[in-house]
Amino acid sequence: MTATLNHLADGLTATRLTLHVLAAAVWVGGQITMLGLVGPARGLASDAPATLARAFNRLAWPAFFLLLATGLWNAQAVGKGTTAWNAVFGVKMTFVLLSGLGAYLHARATSKAQLAIWGSISGVASIAALACGVLLAG
Ligand code: HEM
Repeated sequence: MTATLNHLADGLTATRLTLHVLAAAVWVGGQITMLGLVGPARGLASDAPATLARAFNRLAWPAFFLLLATGLWNAQAVGKGTTAWNAVFGVKMTFVLLSGLGAYLHARATSKAQLAIWGSISGVASIAALACGVLLAG
């Protein structure tokens, strides 16, 4: 019984990782969901994609800031890693930056090309940041 319990995360660790993963689910999963909804939404009304995008932004940015806050908490809790851990952490921070910057510029795009480029950069960087996070968690 005790041996099994020893393999569980303690309450604070579970809270920290649950908040981080929940925020990642909203930020990354939301972008993928939007990719699937925008086409059909255009068929309903020409301004429907923009309305959906504004609604998503109201959820996505708080999730992104929760990722930053809980990410700092993660780093403080599990930091002082090996050279490999630190290297993956550095790569992840680059993807996090691209993920946020791409989303910011996507929302301010003034042409279809800009929308596509910044949307793709943000989407790919978000998934790469998620994969780096899984590597860091070990
Ligand atoms: C786009 C933003 C981000 C995404 C999608 C993301 C995603 C993830 C995921 C999925 C995990 C794995 C959790 C697990 O398997 O239990 C993770 C872990 C981690 N993340 Fe993030 N993250 C993001 C931003 C950040 C930021 C900004 C930081 C640091 C400032 C950070 C630091 C960490 C650390 C240190 C871990 C390992 C935690 C542990 O081993 O307990 N993350 N992240």
